[in-house]
Amino acid sequence: MITTEQTIRTFLEFFRERGHELTPGESLVPPPGDPVLFTTSGMHPLTPYLAGRPHPLGRRLTNLQRCLRTTDLDEVGDDTHLTVFEMLGSWSLGDYEGPQSLRWGHELLCDGFGIDRERLHVTVFGGDEHVGPDHESWDTWDELGVPVEPTVHENWWSNGPTGLCGPDSEIFVWTGLDSPRGTPTIDDRWVEVWNHVMMRYVRHSDGSLEPLTRPGVDTGLGLERLVRILQDKQSVFEIDLFQPWSTTLPRLWGSLDESSTRLLSDHMRSSIVVLGDGIVPSTSGRGHVLRRLIRRTLTTLWRDDPTRTLSDLPIEPIEHTLEHFRQERHPHDVRTTLLDEERRFGRLLQRGRQMLSRNRFRRSLSEDDYRYLYDTHGLPRDLVMYLNAEDFSK
Ligand code: SER
Repeated sequence: MITTEQTIRTFLEFFRERGHELTPGESLVPPPGDPVLFTTSGMHPLTPYLAGRPHPLGRRLTNLQRCLRTTDLDEVGDDTHLTVFEMLGSWSLGDYEGPQSLRWGHELLCDGFGIDRERLHVTVFGGDEHVGPDHESWDTWDELGVPVEPTVHENWWSNGPTGLCGPDSEIFVWTGLDSPRGTPTIDDRWVEVWNHVMMRYVRHSDGSLEPLTRPGVDTGLGLERLVRILQDKQSVFEIDLFQPWSTTLPRLWGSLDESSTRLLSDHMRSSIVVLGDGIVPSTSGRGHVLRRLIRRTLTTLWRDDPTRTLSDLPIEPIEHTLEHFRQERHPHDVRTTLLDEERRFGRLLQRGRQMLSRNRFRRSLSEDDYRYLYDTHGLPRDLVMYLNAEDFSK
């Protein structure tokens, strides 16, 4: 069975053999001046080069980039979504065009990774009132014999209301137990693994589209999703990468249900990676996202048994995570920060319980109550709601 590490090597080697230079995967923290909190896709650090600036390593690049998406937080726990995940990518900075990228994508999935051709389906941009259908991609897939579903919004890639954008073509693999049926938009057993974006335009703030003088191709392949398919697992949580979590958690906190185990694995691992990139818990920005991940870990742990503690967590899964993400922070430092945060949160909950037991708060709370609890006692609304639900369930 192919491992996660072998999957990474196979991908990068495939593109290096085709003239792509390896760029170092960067931190979750984007470069200074970038308005986003976290790197959300492999192309993110390459944005200026896709827009036209010459890249010092040339016009064909490949890499592995760690990403964090808070937009997917509520989906964490299903079979495919993770808070921190890794994206394998390939780029043409004004070099080859979309059809070449799609052909290589098909070759790598089928010949390199051995995925059965019959298990592939793709989507392409079907056109809207501004831009016509992506015929080039459509024809390429027809030639390769892969079924195509055209869509409008799902196949238009952009990073935000303005900036780089273009039509994309997504490759899906069938994960059902019986033979493939339906299409990606109607059957979610088609799992998206690889997106090829034909980066052709810049959208301005007045909504107009300006064609790029040097169009490029940007692809991103979800590592854990691909490995899930290659290792023939039902979810990303069952792949080799998650083994330290899937063996440790039931041993520590035996009676966890499946959805709690998934959430804990995802959130603890993500917190470690964020800490590994030098972020510390705080009340705003990146530190706040980290704090929310740790606190959600703790409320999940304490829901069934308030005596559970992160002090029980052995050092190995922390070491394994930092090592996998090639991060240099010392595992014991990471563990110390997690435990400090647990203590701080424990104290806050205690204070919250005392406050909420006062007569004044034993009724439905007004906006003024929430404001007072936050401004005077540092108790955020979601925490007050959590404590009220806890009280109610007793
Ligand atoms: N930018 C594309 C994505 O986010 C591919 O890298 O999916």
